[in-house]
Amino acid sequence: MRGAAAVLAVSALLLAACSRDEPPAEPAPTPEPVVETAPALDPVTGFKMTGDWELVRANCTSCHSAKLVTQQRGSAQQWLTMIRWMQKKQNLWAFDPDTEGRIIAYLAEHYPPSDAQRRAALAADLMPPNPYSAEN
Ligand code: HEC
Repeated sequence: MRGAAAVLAVSALLLAACSRDEPPAEPAPTPEPVVETAPALDPVTGFKMTGDWELVRANCTSCHSAKLVTQQRGSAQQWLTMIRWMQKKQNLWAFDPDTEGRIIAYLAEHYPPSDAQRRAALAADLMPPNPYSAEN
């Protein structure tokens, strides 16, 4: 009988152990939110100080203000067209392909096309008279 009592006692202990409330699991730590911080602006040129900005500063500010660049928007193709125009008409030097690619990639990424850049066309009745119109 003592054996049976011992089995009972052990079973009771085991049951008690099993049913003991587990401490609540620690909640998984919430990951730090990824905050997209805008790159700081160079106080002199206004360029976004990230990536190849110094390459752009070195090549794009000797003839005109950097403002002319930072106020402009364009796709890679549009930036390339502006560069080709300056090379043809404004004495802008030729770039090696790597430099040109990096300049254009920086410009197209940080100064991409934007709707806000252009206002909608004026309605015809709001336009000033056209001095060249054949109807005048
Ligand atoms: C060799 C001189 C020179 C360099 C260097 C130069 N530009 Fe220009 N750029 C000009 C001239 C000249 C104009 C016309 C300015 C004006 O209309 O008053 C101009 C105009 C512009 C304009 C205005 C275009 C428009 O349609 O209104 C942008 C944008 C521009 N440049 C971007 C750049 C970028 C980007 C670089 C560097 C890759 C650069 N420039 C380097 C000479 C240069």
